[in-house]
Amino acid sequence: MDSILSSTTTFHFRNPLLSPSFKTHSPFSHSKISIKNRIKKSNTNSSQSPIRIYASSQSAPSAEATTNSSSSSSIPSVMKAWTYSDYGGVEVLKLESNVEVPQVKEDQVLIKVVAAALNPIDFKRRFGKFKASDSPPPTVPGYDVAGVVVKVGSQVKDLKEGDEVYGDINEKALDGPKKFGSLAEYTAVEEKLLALKPKNLDFVQAASLPLAIETAYEGLEKAGFSEGKSILVLGGAGGVGSLVIQVAKHVFGASKIAATASTAKLEFLKSLGADLAIDYTKENFEDLPEKYDVVYDSVGQGDRAVKAVKEGGSVVVLTGAVTPPGFRFVVTSNGEFLKKLNPYLESGKVKPVIDPNGPFPFEKVNEAFSYLETNRATGKVVIYPIP
Ligand SMILES: NC(=O)c1ccc[n+]([C@@H]2O[C@H](COP(=O)([O-])OP(=O)(O)OC[C@H]3O[C@@H](n4cnc5c(N)ncnc54)[C@H](OP(=O)(O)O)[C@@H]3O)[C@@H](O)[C@H]2O)c1
Repeated sequence: MDSILSSTTTFHFRNPLLSPSFKTHSPFSHSKISIKNRIKKSNTNSSQSPIRIYASSQSAPSAEATTNSSSSSSIPSVMKAWTYSDYGGVEVLKLESNVEVPQVKEDQVLIKVVAAALNPIDFKRRFGKFKASDSPPPTVPGYDVAGVVVKVGSQVKDLKEGDEVYGDINEKALDGPKKFGSLAEYTAVEEKLLALKPKNLDFVQAASLPLAIETAYEGLEKAGFSEGKSILVLGGAGGVGSLVIQVAKHVFGASKIAATASTAKLEFLKSLGADLAIDYTKENFEDLPEKYDVVYDSVGQGDRAVKAVKEGGSVVVLTGAVTPPGFRFVVTSNGEFLKKLNPYLESGKVKPVIDPNGPFPFEKVNEAFSYLETNRATGKVVIYPIP
């Protein structure tokens, strides 16, 4: 586990709508923004048509007129992106090099993606688990992003070109998530879902945070967690759980934190701030005498979780069946949450946790998903660099 700590402490998707004509694209250059690896000339073959993915949640190309960017002519019209056109396993993922760069709506910015992170919702969505409310494939997956603003919509108030930002690009995780996700060179995102990247964090670290830390924070808030309360975190070593521990301790002021993981991750739980690390391979947490003000279940053990809560306490359930008094919620992406949390990140109290098997390069997004789908990741699986 030491290796996890030291390397992370940093506690550290044809294509309906094929274009009838090829659109030329110019290599990107923007003198105001200096990030390594941010743009390479697209290697799209000129005999190919760009893949277009349009969705009601994002604008068709005519939206260009609504932007007030001076650099829109220097943004390429096509990009590399991971895509899928049918629901399924990791095998449906394809790395394409001629996907149309999304256009920005009035309230959105276009981000040159530097790093992105994977979340279980990405593969659950790809499996078709949320078909009824999903924007139908073809899809560019990816919720979490860190990158640089390269274009702003006409109604964008605070962000400007060159700003380094991070966020979860889908306000409602399950309700019409965007067709153009973050596993691409560019993604278009509403300003209100973003925050400036914490100054002390690199893009990998920043990309690891949004969906997971917003879930951690929102769940604790909904549970009425507050200073002096105790908490049991089920799945303390995962992307969400590792942040629930830290946010409960440093942002909310928990009096006692217990968390569950397998044997090899117990020291890791303690390094995150857990007072008690429970080995789920050896003990049933619900059989232990101590009960908690809040139980935060990121594993899907709602029936057992309710047995470990004090009378009148709260049980937050992220996945699986819910047993009263437990409640389930679905995270809402909100840049204001990130802005609130930035001071804790910038002071180093709350640290990003990057799975030591990563970051995975962009070409290996499919391998990264296979790994995440083992349900054994520690912290967050991050993709970097993105061309
Ligand atoms: N409702 C929402 O808004 C929302 C938001 C975010 C996530 N979620 C859901 O919450 C779940 C967790 O997300 P995540 O990003 O944290 O996943 P994750 O990072 O992939 O979780 C992997 C971790 O889970 C741990 N784990 C697996 N089985 C366990 C068990 N029986 N007891 C304790 N720990 C166990 C593993 O530790 P070991 O290797 O030690 O087993 C591993 O470290 C997913 O189902 C996700 O879809 C829901």
